[in-house]
Amino acid sequence: EHDATPFLPGRRARLPGLRKAAAGCRGCPLYRDATQTVFGEGHTNARVLLLGEQPGDQEDRQGKPFVGPAGRVLRRALADAGIEPDEVYVTNAVKHFKFTVPAGRKRRIHKAPTLREMTACRPWLMAELRVVEPDVVVALGGTAGKALLGSGFRVTEQRGALLPWPGLGDEDGTGGAEKGISGLVATIHPSAVLRADDSDRTHVYDGLVADLGIVADLLG
Ligand code: URA
Ligand code: SF4
Repeated sequence: EHDATPFLPGRRARLPGLRKAAAGCRGCPLYRDATQTVFGEGHTNARVLLLGEQPGDQEDRQGKPFVGPAGRVLRRALADAGIEPDEVYVTNAVKHFKFTVPAGRKRRIHKAPTLREMTACRPWLMAELRVVEPDVVVALGGTAGKALLGSGFRVTEQRGALLPWPGLGDEDGTGGAEKGISGLVATIHPSAVLRADDSDRTHVYDGLVADLGIVADLLG
């Protein structure tokens, strides 16, 4: 029923126009409690579009994706995989922070978006794909994978390989936004590195770098 479509600017809009329009999106209820829309960031000509889940606490405050602890892990992993910062555009499946504040606590705890919320927000992602025209899309974690491949997606089974692009169909149903995409690589969410036990953290991080290495190889 409700989604972001009525808030999209015309198809000629570039990233600044999209970002401005997304700031006023009310396509699902998540805008109500969040501070601001966190739109994607990066180069219009980036060859890689990295898809996270949703902004976290820091991202919600600062208005930019992956500027918190998970973002630090991500930037280091990209560098270790040999992917330059100017080759990536970074965005999220859902552009508003979804959270709960447990009783008696101050800290806002991230809550996973529903498939319905991801679907409501998808028109923004399709518009980003149309403008950026990436060669490859990287799903960071299970939620991003589900946003692209459906609820059957399992990061443990599908990570670290070039998967066929699912063909999501853009606003006008032509799929024009997706023509140049050679495929999708899924990996863990960088926050999984932060959540890992001390004894396991290096191994988990190395797995993230190895998966991103597949992407680096594709870029040549
Ligand atoms: N986690 C995400 O999935 N996206 C962000 O932007 C930050 C943390
Ligand atoms: Fe719009 Fe997406 Fe925010 Fe929902 S989460 S209000 S669809 S930008």
